[in-house]
Amino acid sequence: MKVYCILSDQRVYQSRSPAMFSAVLRRQGIHAVYVPFAVEPADLGCALEGLRALHIAGANVTAPFKEAVIAHLDDLSEGARVIGAINTLVRDGRRLKGYNTNAIGIMDALGAAGCEVEGRTALVFGTGGAARTAAFILTWLRAREVWVAGRRLDRAREITERFGGRGVPLEMLRNVRLPAEIVVNATSASSPEESAELCNLVQGLDLGACRLLLDLNYGRRRNFWRDKAEAEGIPFLDGLLPLAFQARRSLHLWTGLLVPPEEFLEALAPPGACPPAVPA
Ligand SMILES: NC(=O)c1ccc[n+]([C@@H]2O[C@H](COP(=O)([O-])OP(=O)(O)OC[C@H]3O[C@@H](n4cnc5c(N)ncnc54)[C@H](OP(=O)(O)O)[C@@H]3O)[C@@H](O)[C@H]2O)c1
Repeated sequence: MKVYCILSDQRVYQSRSPAMFSAVLRRQGIHAVYVPFAVEPADLGCALEGLRALHIAGANVTAPFKEAVIAHLDDLSEGARVIGAINTLVRDGRRLKGYNTNAIGIMDALGAAGCEVEGRTALVFGTGGAARTAAFILTWLRAREVWVAGRRLDRAREITERFGGRGVPLEMLRNVRLPAEIVVNATSASSPEESAELCNLVQGLDLGACRLLLDLNYGRRRNFWRDKAEAEGIPFLDGLLPLAFQARRSLHLWTGLLVPPEEFLEALAPPGACPPAVPA
């Protein structure tokens, strides 16, 4: 029996990863479990030592530790080094190597949705690890220009100084026609309950040029990004598709198996509901 896990703070108990991975591992006939671990920030180093000592077969790491965990690792993949954030740990004896499958998950999801990035202008909301990852992959896929918008202009500029593009304050987006053809929400807010202020700002955006709105969040009953896309006739994707694709890449790193994305999407659907589809 192998043990895989996900490390986060108390939000780990809301993560869909344990249910999704457990279902896929079972279906693949892999004798393993995937469990959530809530870690206090001050205990992160001990938690990593625990993974080594307990022979955990592999792990995911999510907010708020994607960047902080790097200091406790033995090695990083090239992509993780460039992005500066990881979400997957691969164990080789006592050595832990960090990878970033978030970026490739976004790339795979955009590809599955038929969204061509090359030559397009993109606008990323947020300045945390997910925004940094989205800005990296959009630049790597040769977007013409990537704008990063956040409450903290210093953090937005830190991202664009690293990957190119333009850091802008959120407030600057009001009442201007935005050139963005691809919009990515990489903030942690998607429902009016999470932020009435951001909801209000999004409702007033001029997204006339937008061809795809990707919200990296999922599972919100009310979602102001989805409402905006529907109101403007813009194709919309929520975070389940990138989650399924990044999970598929993590499992590949741990086991060498490249399972079809539909298996992960099926595992994400509530009992009795239709799984979210991979766009044709
Ligand atoms: N589907 C997927 O595959 C996938 C992958 C990765 C992440 N995600 C999701 O993406 C979200 C962000 O993840 P993360 O790792 O980047 O988290 P993070 O490092 O905590 O960053 C959160 C970002 O959201 C911004 N934000 C929060 N509330 C806001 C508001 N009301 N208005 C404007 N900005 C706001 C924060 O801005 P301040 O700094 O100003 O607070 C920060 O820039 C999370 O909800 C995560 O679950 C999904």
